[in-house]
Amino acid sequence: MSLLQVRGLTKRFGKTDVLRGIDLDVQPGERIAILGASGSGKSTLLRCLNFMEMPDVGTVTLDGKVIGPSGKYRESELTQVRQRVGMVFQQFNLFPHMTAVGNVMEGLRTVRRQSKAEARTRAEKELARVGLADKAETYPAHLSGGQKQRVAIARALAMDPEMLLFDEPTSALDPELVGEVLNVIRSLADEGRTMLLVTHELGFAYHVATRIIFLADGTIHEQGTPDEVLKNPRQERTRAFLASHKQFSF
Ligand SMILES: Nc1ncnc2c1ncn2[C@@H]1O[C@H](COP(=O)(O)OP(=O)(O)OP(=O)(O)O)[C@@H](O)[C@H]1O
Ligand SMILES: [Mg+2]
Repeated sequence: MSLLQVRGLTKRFGKTDVLRGIDLDVQPGERIAILGASGSGKSTLLRCLNFMEMPDVGTVTLDGKVIGPSGKYRESELTQVRQRVGMVFQQFNLFPHMTAVGNVMEGLRTVRRQSKAEARTRAEKELARVGLADKAETYPAHLSGGQKQRVAIARALAMDPEMLLFDEPTSALDPELVGEVLNVIRSLADEGRTMLLVTHELGFAYHVATRIIFLADGTIHEQGTPDEVLKNPRQERTRAFLASHKQFSF
C-alpha cells in the first residue's frame, strides 16, 4: 500500500489554476525530487500535502486513510497530519525568541504534550543527530543559515514523521553552507526515510532521489528514474528546463 496517495489534486488561486489534477503515489522509502520552473506549483504541491494550503478538489490519503473524509478539514486532524508529514522550508521558519533546543522542543511540548524534561532529552538527541549538540542554547540570530536549517530539520525529526517534505532547503544558503545541509538530508536518505524534495541541486537529486518528477503548468509533465529524466528526458519542456540550468555533474 502507498504511504501517500494523491488523486486529482487541484488548487486554484483566484483565476489561476496552479495544480491541475495531480495524481501521485509514494511508497515507503521513496525519495522523490520535484523539479520545475519558478511558478510551476512545486511549493503549492508540498503545502497541500501538509495542508498549509487546502486543496480545492481531490483527495490525499495517508497510510490508507483519506484526510478530511467528509470533505471538510478539521484542524485537529490536520495537526496530526502535519506531524506525520514533516516540512522543512527554504526560510527555516524558526521562532526567533527561542533557542535552538527551544525550537525543537516546541512541537513536543504543545502538540505531544511532553514534559519539559522529556522534550528536552528528545530535542537534544535530534540536535546531536544534525551535528548541533553544542548549539542547543543558541538563538537563531546567532546561527549560520546552514545551522538554522539543521535546527529546522531536527525540529521536523523530533515529531517522528513518516514522511519529510523539503522545499528548496538550501536555496537561501550561501554556497559554502549548502553541503552541510545536503549531508544531513543524505544521511536521512541512507536511513531509508521517505521524502519529497523540491530542489535545484540537480546533481544531488540525481544521486539521492529514487524518482524525479518534473512539474509544468500544474501537472506532472514527466517522471521517471534520475537516469531517465535527467539524462534522457523525453519531453521537450523537460529538456529546455534542464538546459536552462547551469551545468551539473553527476
Ligand atoms: N498564497 C497564494 N496566493 C496567490 N497566488 C499564489 C499563492 N501561492 C502561490 N501562488 C501562485 O501560484 C503559482 C505557483 O506558485 P508556487 O510557489 O507553488 O511555485 P513554485 O514552483 O514553488 O515556484 P518557485 O520555484 O519560484 O518557488 C504562482 O503563480 C504563484 O504566484
Ligand atoms: Mg517554491
